[in-house]
Amino acid sequence: MRGAAGWHDGGVPNHVQPQLRPGYPIRTERLLLRPLTVGDADALLAYRSQPDVCRYVPFEPMDRQLISERLAKQWATTTLTDEGQAVTLGIELARSGELVGDVVLFWHSREHRGGEIGYILNPDFAGHGYATEAAHAMLRLGFDELGLHRIVARIDERNEASANVARRLGMRQEARLIHNELFKGEWSTELGFAMLAGEWPIHRVRLANGRQPRATDKSATEA
Ligand SMILES: CC(C)(COP(=O)(O)OP(=O)(O)OC[C@H]1O[C@@H](n2cnc3c(N)ncnc32)[C@H](O)[C@@H]1OP(=O)(O)O)[C@@H](O)C(=O)NCCC(=O)NCCS
Repeated sequence: MRGAAGWHDGGVPNHVQPQLRPGYPIRTERLLLRPLTVGDADALLAYRSQPDVCRYVPFEPMDRQLISERLAKQWATTTLTDEGQAVTLGIELARSGELVGDVVLFWHSREHRGGEIGYILNPDFAGHGYATEAAHAMLRLGFDELGLHRIVARIDERNEASANVARRLGMRQEARLIHNELFKGEWSTELGFAMLAGEWPIHRVRLANGRQPRATDKSATEA
């Protein structure tokens, strides 16, 4: 029964307390995902200050002071212990140690085991599959380690590069919400992408085997 006190719909009692406490760095084929530090301020400023990079994300271009504040507060979170929290990790190239972007996993609901991912890259490092590879690692954290049931990505329809990452991950487009939000002074049409825990094993294996499908690959969007 929906909302029955004390139980998830899957029959997991609420007193079982999921938490995410990863060992860092998280290694993928070409990347290290790790907490951001004050030493990353210049690299973060290099892309988070760019208007083009920030066009479809829910924040304005950042200055050094705001980046320092974020590093001291929100981005200092390295574990998820309760709903409403988010963990942001730097995307570092394993071969060179360069910080090329960052990824985030939000834990929206303990009861519904819901989460959301987001990603942002320095444009100098776009076009190599790094965002897809890093976001795949965040799906793994969300499903395999935190035990989420459903992870979403909310994307402005004009942000084709981002929608292509979601498709490449195997997330399913479920919604197209026309003029859903007044976003930075314009009506934004939002695409809703999602993946369920039951769909994840196929996509975990497919991408882990090095087969990074193109965004137009039909099998990538059909669970
Ligand atoms: C969204 C964003 C992260 C996508 O970056 P991206 O570089 O296109 O994504 P990836 O790093 O996954 O790279 C995929 C591209 O690299 C290519 N590629 C090259 N080598 C690859 C490899 N080994 N594996 C996978 N893809 C590879 C892919 O074909 C793809 O190119 P295509 O879209 O022309 O087919 C980037 O545009 C960005 O930071 N935008 C600003 C912030 C933003 O809007 N974030 C999303 C908010 S919802």
